[in-house]
Amino acid sequence: MLGRDVVTVADSTGHDVVALSHDDLDITDPGWVERTILREQPGAVINCAAWTAVDDAEAHEHEASLVNAEGAGFVADAAAKAGAKVVYISTDYVFDGAKGRPYTESDETNPVNAYGRTKLAGERATALVTRQSFIVRTSWLFGSNGANFVETMLRLGKGGGPVVVVHDQIGCPTYTGHLAAGLVRLIDTSAFGVHHMSSRGSCSRYEWAMEIFRQSGVVTRVLATTRDMMDDRAERPAQSVLTSGREAPITLPEWQRGVADYLARREQPGEQPKPRKQPASARRQPVLELRPKQQEDEEEHEAAAKEGAGGETPAEEEDES
Ligand SMILES: NC(=O)c1ccc[n+]([C@@H]2O[C@H](COP(=O)([O-])OP(=O)(O)OC[C@H]3O[C@@H](n4cnc5c(N)ncnc54)[C@H](OP(=O)(O)O)[C@@H]3O)[C@@H](O)[C@H]2O)c1
Repeated sequence: MLGRDVVTVADSTGHDVVALSHDDLDITDPGWVERTILREQPGAVINCAAWTAVDDAEAHEHEASLVNAEGAGFVADAAAKAGAKVVYISTDYVFDGAKGRPYTESDETNPVNAYGRTKLAGERATALVTRQSFIVRTSWLFGSNGANFVETMLRLGKGGGPVVVVHDQIGCPTYTGHLAAGLVRLIDTSAFGVHHMSSRGSCSRYEWAMEIFRQSGVVTRVLATTRDMMDDRAERPAQSVLTSGREAPITLPEWQRGVADYLARREQPGEQPKPRKQPASARRQPVLELRPKQQEDEEEHEAAAKEGAGGETPAEEEDES
């Protein structure tokens, strides 16, 4: 999802781009990684490859780690040998969410799930082998080249709803088109180290859903629920908003603008969403379709939903897809 937008933006800004899919390069194979990077002699490597199935990582932490940590190390090592800068994309899930305020780059990490642990290990593996590395933490990505929360909302909303969305988890939805532009700007700098790069602002996933329906003109009922109603295997941070403490950070537009730009792009001919193959759990969103028991509690949920719509500090839930 992110990788394709990075390719588009880098291409359109005059970079000579070598775009590699999983089939073109498996980053868990160090020889393959080294041969490829030394052959291409890039100025910068942007590593968008990852195991992003957050719930599956609970039972497959080792496999997730091979890609997110060890593979990241191989990419960084090969980039260093080629004299190239390297970008590792990390996540707000390296934090536990207990701070209650936005996290800056210097805040202590403490992942609460396996995926977060593997991503933190990837940060360290990258930074360990090269000083010419950018560790970019971002959050709640959505973009045209992958199944994502916006598409899930539109599908459920158009299906008549009601749609039930968590409101006790807060974060920052980030449009991959905007993030890609930030990453391509970043590689032209020497500001190595950790960067927080999410869209401006924050919201609960419930508020995000409301904004999607408002902007797209889809009329449906949206009901608020809480994280403990979800059957997710992985714990997620309750409040993982990222902000930058850097003097001159690269900033992205606000998240509502991300929704607008995403919706505008999907209306363009040939730009209909192209969900691609993926494990089911990887694409599961923190959204429930109404179940019988919930129907019984509908009045209560609707009251909560109204409260959430009023913007009274609802929190949000995140997923890496
Ligand atoms: N999505 C989010 O909400 C979110 C939030 C914060 C940070 N991030 C981070 O942002 C980055 C991009 O995420 P995304 O949402 O664009 O992910 P994505 O759509 O799931 O794409 C990940 C890509 O990595 C590939 N891949 C997996 N294992 C690989 C391997 N061993 N070698 C080479 N390629 C491999 C996948 O290919 P296959 O599909 O063929 O396996 C897929 O093309 C990741 O580092 C992710 O951790 C994502």
